[in-house]
Amino acid sequence: MRRDKNKSWGGRFAEGPKEAVAAYTQSQSYDRVLAEHDIRASKAHAGMLGDVGVLTPEETRKIREGLDRVLAEIREKNFVWKPELEDVHMNVEARLTELIGDVGKKLHTGRSRNDQVGLTFRLYVADQLVLWRQYAVTLCDVLLQRASRHIDDILPGCTHLQPAQPVSLAQHLLAYAWMLRRDVQRLDDALKRVRVSPLGAAALAGATYPLKPQNVAQEVGFAEIFGNSLDAVSDRDFVLESLFCASTIMMHLSRLCEEIILWANPAFNFVQLPDSYSTGSSIMPQKKNPDVAELMRGKTGRVYGALTAMFTVMKALPLAYNRDMQEDKEAFLDADNTVKASLQIMAGMLDALTFRVDRMREACAAGFLNATELADYLTNKGVPFRDAHHSTGQAVSVAENQGKRLEDLSLRELQAIDARIGEDVYAALDYATAVNRRETPGGTGPQSVARQLEQLGQWIAAGDASGVATQEATPEDSGDNRRMEPVVD
Ligand code: ARG
Repeated sequence: MRRDKNKSWGGRFAEGPKEAVAAYTQSQSYDRVLAEHDIRASKAHAGMLGDVGVLTPEETRKIREGLDRVLAEIREKNFVWKPELEDVHMNVEARLTELIGDVGKKLHTGRSRNDQVGLTFRLYVADQLVLWRQYAVTLCDVLLQRASRHIDDILPGCTHLQPAQPVSLAQHLLAYAWMLRRDVQRLDDALKRVRVSPLGAAALAGATYPLKPQNVAQEVGFAEIFGNSLDAVSDRDFVLESLFCASTIMMHLSRLCEEIILWANPAFNFVQLPDSYSTGSSIMPQKKNPDVAELMRGKTGRVYGALTAMFTVMKALPLAYNRDMQEDKEAFLDADNTVKASLQIMAGMLDALTFRVDRMREACAAGFLNATELADYLTNKGVPFRDAHHSTGQAVSVAENQGKRLEDLSLRELQAIDARIGEDVYAALDYATAVNRRETPGGTGPQSVARQLEQLGQWIAAGDASGVATQEATPEDSGDNRRMEPVVD
């Protein structure tokens, strides 16, 4: 009987699994990005084993230093990944034992890969959510910057994609800033549940050693520990919640993309896309395609896909750990990649595009966007709103039949519809006035918009209100994580 010594569970198996099965079940080709977090978790575990006397101080020191050496090898790209060792956890542990000898085998005391992968992945996910948060705040800031210069520029606000009432461009942009603020708040809330340590649950039932899971949590910077060992090793709510946050962010970005795409269409011509964010057509020389916005809208689908995939993976799993759950890595990593890139690219694109405020203003004049103003004008003269609405409808139809705008109708024509209309109606029909008069809370009036800018600006300046530690991030952070070497067996 041949035993496969490379496998920690090799004792029960007469033969190692065939190559294809090994390739099918392995995760080291993609979960190696978790190495830093796995080592952080393992160092905390070793420290705790030392605290409770399961390891001697000397053993603890050797293991923790050994783990640092493994980490250095990984960072310096000297680490040799072994596909036959299945995942990041076994690769790291095997190398530790190679480096420090048999004492390395003591690291796994009172621990299982089930609670190990739980803590490792939670640490990783938490760090990425903090980056999403940061990129979302940056995008919010870009929206604020752009909005602050367009408080007095107006465009047709739509419902049903039909011109409805004029709004300020700032108001339109700030709508997205408010969405992103909620996205950030959602991330902060999700982080509270991500940052719970499951280590100490062991395989599923807890352990016979006098473990102190709280010590581990403290060392890795998590405030809470699990309450039930079975739940601890089988919970992937934290992945689902993160993917939900990702999906909502992408949904918001996708709506903004849709508007950019529409606005870039010559029929609107509200924005001019920078060349770096658009492409030409190989056959139609006049075209400038909003490919970046289109792709971002398209990539939203894969993030929803990750969420759906994980809901489906989890829905019928019995307690506790099941290997199905390994699927959480690729789902999350792919969504993570998409969200980070999208948030950063959207910030760049918004910063670089040109708003055609002249075109926006012209468009306001075309669609009877001041019809509500006439109705409100009549209401203020004591006409019940329903009647005012009816008279305004008549005025629109008179103007439409003559190919005119409401403000082009003579006072006599207007008075024929309602005798209470006076000369002052023309001031009321002014498009900018229509915007300026809407000073209800959150409305499109300039003071309301200025208040929004202030509120959002203060929120950004306050930084992290949630108590979640933020970390410095560069675009490379996300890039590096994903630049994975292909597996060569
Ligand atoms: N690579 C595995 C995962 O991501 C680690 C846990 C494996 N545990 C086990 N009992 N096979 O889920």
